Amino acid sequence: MEGLDMVVSCLALGLLFCFFVLKWNEFRYSRRGVPPGTMGWPFFGETNEFLKLGPQFMRNQKARYGSVFKSHILGSPMVVSTDAELNRFILLNEAKGLVPGYPQSMVDILGSRNIAAVHGSTHRYIRNNLLSLVGTPVVKDRLLPRLDKHMRLFLSNWDGKTIDIQQKTKEMAFAMAFKQIAEVESSSIYDSFKCEFDKFLIGTLSLPVNLPGTNYHLGFKSRADVVKTLTELMEKRRGATAGTYDDMLAHLLRDGTTRYGLTDEDIIDQIITILYSGYETMSTTSMMAVKYLHDHQEALQELRDEHFAIRKRKAAEEPIDWNDIKSMRFTRAVVFETLRLATVINGVLRKTTQDVQLNGFTVPKGWRIYVYLREINYDPLLYPEPLKFNPWRWLQDEKLESNNYVLLFGGGSRLCPGKELGIVKVATFLHYLVTTYRWEEIGGEKMLEFPRVKAPNGYHVNVMKI
Ligand code: HEM
Repeated sequence: MEGLDMVVSCLALGLLFCFFVLKWNEFRYSRRGVPPGTMGWPFFGETNEFLKLGPQFMRNQKARYGSVFKSHILGSPMVVSTDAELNRFILLNEAKGLVPGYPQSMVDILGSRNIAAVHGSTHRYIRNNLLSLVGTPVVKDRLLPRLDKHMRLFLSNWDGKTIDIQQKTKEMAFAMAFKQIAEVESSSIYDSFKCEFDKFLIGTLSLPVNLPGTNYHLGFKSRADVVKTLTELMEKRRGATAGTYDDMLAHLLRDGTTRYGLTDEDIIDQIITILYSGYETMSTTSMMAVKYLHDHQEALQELRDEHFAIRKRKAAEEPIDWNDIKSMRFTRAVVFETLRLATVINGVLRKTTQDVQLNGFTVPKGWRIYVYLREINYDPLLYPEPLKFNPWRWLQDEKLESNNYVLLFGGGSRLCPGKELGIVKVATFLHYLVTTYRWEEIGGEKMLEFPRVKAPNGYHVNVMKI
């Protein structure tokens, strides 16, 4: 009996202790005017619930506290906005103290001159330089012809094979970007560079603890190797005869000394930005497009018709050009519908540089804001029958793409500069896939939706030549 009393007393004490710790943590972050919500445990906050329940956690909190609520996620006090109007306001008002607020590990490892780490006039000049490398006019004249060549080669020997689309689309996203950056050297240094870059990626989403064995430490070491390789590449290029190279690195080196006055550090961080920003976004969109097209044969047929009509106008090996890209209206709709339904980007992060008033609430200086975009992707007013894969909706309403609440590529001064390049890459991938092959799923493989869209065991299909 005494033993039982002891257990009950310990339990009661434990519960009381937890209750006081939770209350203390709430008290720590209570300020006048801060939105309602809960802060969870000290240090960990509600990260566990957020990662485990994902969208359901967001819906639960929204039902209890409204469309703007506070929480503590990924090591920082945070205000979550699920309000479409407010989300747009936040993205359009960086100058009011709402700057990008990505995790410390990401900023440290991507570099201090990385676009997400800079604001104001520095951001404008880094962004303009980036647009001169990946903006629409460059895609049209310089990038598309090479992309066509590399994509055709990339998809050339899939016949009769079982292909892991997840792995292949990752390879494709990285290889295509790398070839655009350093075309000539891409084959000789690709494997070792990719290996370092993968370690580097793990470090960008880690707790910023720089001790041997941590992902953060590993990420830093890999950054040093990535920087070393790029520095050697730049030195080699500087020693070469002018006009030998014509890729992004050549343009960066030339513009670096002329128009933009870029330092070597700027150039390295620009290259890392291009590789990093267009990696997961591109591969996930391409993988999910293959998945949705497989599951919706009517859409696949319409897409095939569009691409065969293009091939019919061309000689057998003739590359696709800008006019072909412009004629891919259904393909563009498939890309937008895939981004929406799969919610490739769940949200973007901002950080306040001063106390900011939002919808009558105060967001204290230094807090993060999670501009949560997922909910709006399933809003039945904007997208009737939102859970249906319906690319035709983007054609029936041509203004949908530019609707104020469609933030699939972000908005305001941080609108994705790689938007058109990204669409062109997925479209070129789909072009060679659907005009060369048909495919069947192996089946039974899981797809996770949150916090990232991914197939934990891969997404395998059997591929056959048409
Ligand atoms: C389907 C593919 C893509 C999607 C869905 C996508 C989405 C986005 C979104 C939502 C943002 C806004 C982030 C924020 O506000 O914090 C963004 C920014 C950015 N994206 Fe993309 N992106 C894609 C492809 C690419 C590609 C291929 C590149 C390569 C150049 C790229 C480069 C960037 C950069 C550099 C930024 C930061 C812009 C700034 O801070 O001014 N993206 N992207």
